[in-house]
Amino acid sequence: MTNNIVWHEHAVDKNARANALNQKPAVIWLTGLSGSGKSTIANLLEKKLFSESKKTYLLDGDNVRHGLCGDLGFDDKDRVENIRRISEVAKLFVDSGSIVITAFISPFQADRAYCRSLLDAGEFVEVFVDTPIEVCEKRDPKGLYKKARSGDIKHFTGIDSVYETPTTPEVHLTYIEESAEQTAERLFKLISEKGFI
Ligand code: ADX
Repeated sequence: MTNNIVWHEHAVDKNARANALNQKPAVIWLTGLSGSGKSTIANLLEKKLFSESKKTYLLDGDNVRHGLCGDLGFDDKDRVENIRRISEVAKLFVDSGSIVITAFISPFQADRAYCRSLLDAGEFVEVFVDTPIEVCEKRDPKGLYKKARSGDIKHFTGIDSVYETPTTPEVHLTYIEESAEQTAERLFKLISEKGFI
């Protein structure tokens, strides 16, 4: 499909943009079950980084599925395509010098690895939001677990669709009973201390 298409080097490159912005571009990739808190944590993290004058961009599952991925459903094939498109978009934002935060279930290891493979070493920061399914199901903010249990929704992650647990995430956010603000603060500290941003 890329026959007869030639890649053009840009006069202004990623390093120049990152230097001008005085930041390290990266993708902070949150993965976890529906209801695990990914979107809330991602929003709070972005607010924190933005307040520190970082150029950020948040890509969120429910929002992206209204536009860029509005034609996709939740069977395995569509989920793979969902994450492929998001990975390509994330790469463009990294090239723009931004710190990208993503909040997608991204249940398959191979798809998360695909995004990592598009980026330079150290740019992909996998964050496993490890909230147990019992907690997610109790929260059930959109009533989707209830619908999945009754069979109204098919292919629901953790019920009748698989979630492949990250084996070596850069950050493992274990579940603690604390506020979302505290969890976001915990994540911010971890990614700062480990030098990812
Ligand atoms: S992913 O698996 O392709 O990464 P994504 O993060 O984009 O999923 O979208 C997940 C969101 O879609 C969930 O938070 C939930 O609100 C909604 N949703 C609707 N149907 C399903 C389903 N069958 N499985 C999981 N999430 C669903």
